[in-house]
Amino acid sequence: MQIVHTKAQLRVLLKQARKIGQSVGFVPTMGYLHAGHASLIHRARQENDVVVVSVFVNPTQFGPNEDLDAYPRDPDKDMALMRAEGTDIAFFPSADDIYPAGYATYVTVEGPMTQALCGRSRPGHFRGVTTVVSKLFHLTTPDRAYFGQKDAQQVAVIRQMVSDLDFDVQIVACPIVREPDGLALSSRNTYLSEKQRAQASGISRALFEAREMILAGQRDATLMTDHIKKRITAIDSAAVDYVSIVDARTLADLDTLIGEVLIAVAVKMGRTRLIDNIRVEV
Ligand code: PAJ
Repeated sequence: MQIVHTKAQLRVLLKQARKIGQSVGFVPTMGYLHAGHASLIHRARQENDVVVVSVFVNPTQFGPNEDLDAYPRDPDKDMALMRAEGTDIAFFPSADDIYPAGYATYVTVEGPMTQALCGRSRPGHFRGVTTVVSKLFHLTTPDRAYFGQKDAQQVAVIRQMVSDLDFDVQIVACPIVREPDGLALSSRNTYLSEKQRAQASGISRALFEAREMILAGQRDATLMTDHIKKRITAIDSAAVDYVSIVDARTLADLDTLIGEVLIAVAVKMGRTRLIDNIRVEV
């Protein structure tokens, strides 16, 4: 595995790979890698000649009162996981290399897709994501890029951007990897106290239960939303940020459950904000 810290080094390596006709799979991350990230790298390894993984805690996608400084970092452990999954190029750029002094260009997906769900409680978040992912796509020019369904809204926003801006890349969405008790793996789970961690499994339980109710014939979105909210509110260290039932592709609100339905939640456990979701084909 080659470890590179600058855009220039990355470009040299990728130019060589392109010259001999190799395909490139790309997995963008913010590090503190876990089995969810590993599943993306694993899939990229199966489908491409060269696998590039980036680790960059992107400052522009964090709000002023969010956890940019506290975000967990462990590059040595990350490199071990990347190696184990067969990564060819590990890219660890610095913030100065990505956003040099005088940096002024941002990429924004407008409209309800970025304003609903996480966009409401994290204004500017998706602008930071689409900006950095655009830059990383230009730097790596991947044939395929791998994203987790864990961040379902992020996948939808990236697909919209790729389509609108004619990026020549295939977006591959990978299933959510969960702990044995159902909690979706997240770098932020490390913030949870023992008690919060134990109670956090109630979030996915509420989603699994909702799916069963829909599969059993429930079609009323308001009733389902209220039911999920009640279940999550009953967890004593949890506060609901949102519970939304939307069309999985457009993220438009649904009244009646039909088609590819996405049930997405954000929950605060103390100061930690966790997200999770489930898709149901109705
Ligand atoms: P990060 O949170 O590090 O996640 C990197 C990728 O791993 C994302 O596509 C995310 O959806 C996926 N992922 C995280 N947890 C997962 C899980 N439990 N199962 C499956 N996939 C999972 O998402 C970001 O970083 C950033 O916004 C980024 C795209 C890198 C832009 O800065």
